[in-house]
Amino acid sequence: MEIPFAESYRIKMVTPIRRSTKEERLQWIKEAKYNLFNLKSEQVFIDLLTDSGTGAMSEQQWSEMMLGDESYAGASSYYKLKHAIKDILGFEHFLPTHQGRAAENVLFSVLVKEGDIVPGNSHFDTTKGHIEFRKAKAIDCTIDEAFDTELEYPFKGNIDINKLSQVFEQNDKTKIKFIILTITNNTSGGQPVSMQNIKEVSEFAKAKGVSLIVDSARFAENAYFIKMREKGYENKTIKEIVAEMYSYADAMTMSSKKDAIVNMGGFIAMRSKKLFDQAAVFNIMFEGYLTYGGMSGRDMNALAQGLDEGTEFETLETRIKQVEYLGNKLIEYGIPVQHPIGGHAVFIDAKKLLPNIPKEEFPAQTLAIELYIEAGIRGVEIGAILADRDPETRKNRYPELELVRLAIPRRTYTNNHMDVVAAAIINVFDRKNEIKNGVSIINEAPIMRHFTVELERI
Ligand code: F0G
Repeated sequence: MEIPFAESYRIKMVTPIRRSTKEERLQWIKEAKYNLFNLKSEQVFIDLLTDSGTGAMSEQQWSEMMLGDESYAGASSYYKLKHAIKDILGFEHFLPTHQGRAAENVLFSVLVKEGDIVPGNSHFDTTKGHIEFRKAKAIDCTIDEAFDTELEYPFKGNIDINKLSQVFEQNDKTKIKFIILTITNNTSGGQPVSMQNIKEVSEFAKAKGVSLIVDSARFAENAYFIKMREKGYENKTIKEIVAEMYSYADAMTMSSKKDAIVNMGGFIAMRSKKLFDQAAVFNIMFEGYLTYGGMSGRDMNALAQGLDEGTEFETLETRIKQVEYLGNKLIEYGIPVQHPIGGHAVFIDAKKLLPNIPKEEFPAQTLAIELYIEAGIRGVEIGAILADRDPETRKNRYPELELVRLAIPRRTYTNNHMDVVAAAIINVFDRKNEIKNGVSIINEAPIMRHFTVELERI
């Protein structure tokens, strides 16, 4: 008999979770105004809202916490992290921030001005938010293959170089200072970007005289997919692939809460001393002094350790195989999901699963609510609510894809939990014809409305 795959760790500390009844959940979701962000964590059985900051740290990371140096300036923890960033990612300069969006805020305070244009591949919502907040424009140049959820394509996160060229041809070039490349591409389904594409985008950026900035939240998962799918990389280590990926970039923003497996933290790293000096001013103003930014010493220690562990093949293999385990169960049953299964999450195609719900009634949000009511599972809408209104016309933006993302925290749940999730989705799928109405908005914020939006069932 072939020896099956098993996790590359064993468990030594656990958090109890509780099942609830359907009656309780119907009441709680109503009280939460049908916004899953408003639920209390104890009202959720399996929490797949995000894989951000929700992973389980290793015993080595917890040990590093005890060694944290909390000096205001020049802490050894800062230097430990600085060395990890230099060794693993190759950047000379870095600024710690409290999380990824803080890194965006600091860096964009230097680089983004009113009227600017920032092309990229499906900018994450906070990235787009920080661009639009500065009255600049984010233009999505993701390849069209990403929008066909059934299509098997190994690197659906890629940037389309033709679309990128058009952005440069159709706009005032002085308004474009950098391209932002998100690896893996979260919004299009946790889909990776190939090394070839990273290289081509980098060459394009150089030819146009602009920088390439990598939004790096799930950079290690991207490297894993390059190893598994791209010719010439099968025998390279994850760390070798990571080093090559960043050799093509000028700077990076990082949400450490994902692939570095810490609960809080982020940073900006760059080659240019000039950019470092400019960003340092804003970092001190918004985040904290240069050698701690938004982080305590113990957190910087855990992050340095997490960057090392997070770029080990075994860590990534265990994690991505669990995501695939859930995804494959759904595919077997015929549930419409983004193919191939992404690195951090399974994305359900809500337009296909709930064809009776028109886009104006938010099919992905409707599906996320149904899934919660079915078994206490919390996913998140990646659809028209998240897409916000157009900043100029104030009309709802309807993206091509209406997805429910089930993001799987690292080293947190077992495959038994994945079985529960799969069964709940199958049950909703089996009664999809009974779901005839979606939701409507009763209250929303002017930007990034999905976090606080209030809804009612139609
Ligand atoms: N960039 C990407 C690609 C992200 O996925 C996120 C966060 C950020 C930047 C911002 O980082 O949360 O540390 O401020 N994504 C989380 C998610 C929230 O659920 O996908 P942050």
